[in-house]
Amino acid sequence: MSQVHLIDHPMIQHKLSIMRAKDTDSKNFRQLLREISLLMGYEVTRDLPLSDVEIETPISKMTAKQVLGLKLAIVPILRAGLGMVDGLLDLVPVAKVGHIGLYRNEETHKPVVYFCKLPKNIQKRLVILTDPMLATGGSSCDAIEMLKERGCSNIKLMCLVAAPEGIAKVQAEHPDVDIYVAAIDDHLNEDAYIVPGLGDAGDRIFGTK
Ligand code: PRP
Ligand code: URA
Repeated sequence: MSQVHLIDHPMIQHKLSIMRAKDTDSKNFRQLLREISLLMGYEVTRDLPLSDVEIETPISKMTAKQVLGLKLAIVPILRAGLGMVDGLLDLVPVAKVGHIGLYRNEETHKPVVYFCKLPKNIQKRLVILTDPMLATGGSSCDAIEMLKERGCSNIKLMCLVAAPEGIAKVQAEHPDVDIYVAAIDDHLNEDAYIVPGLGDAGDRIFGTK
């Protein structure tokens, strides 16, 4: 069974509360999502392997640590997942970035794929799949499936707000994928929106609607 990591540091909770408020504008919403993504990135990258490197400080030689090869890819689910990329790139500037385009059909709530472009050797990388909203879990499960079809075996799912229904679906279909979230909300409404949630993340990031 995959683990659910609830990253509820006080600064993350504070920033998320501002994001949830309906009067927060797109500029602030985007900025806060970027900041939270960097903070969450600390936990998501906590177990990256380290290797020894010989360096010389101004005082002496030493054996220091460095992250091994940085074989990492950030893969946002379009559109809203894009809002988490820059914060992760602030943390890991050399990471490669892939894109998976999915949108939910408004009537069936089922994801529809429209784009997939991934970095070279994606199967050798740790993939951090980003999407701020894990609602029914359909989009994330389909995106994970697409990554697995391309050989990925080391995938972490990083979301901002999750519904219990979405977590249960990812855990049932992809027990090898750990989930990182800043909040687990109460339930989904009849339109499959997270309650209380923060509304439509893509629209709030990009100022559409
Ligand atoms: C939203 C959100 C997730 C998906 C979550 O995207 O960003 O990708 O819905 O819902 P699910 O867990 O029920 O699949 P949306 O389809 O609205 O597309 P957008 O990001 O382009 O706005
Ligand atoms: N997608 C969103 O953007 N928000 C939700 O609450 C559910 C799906």
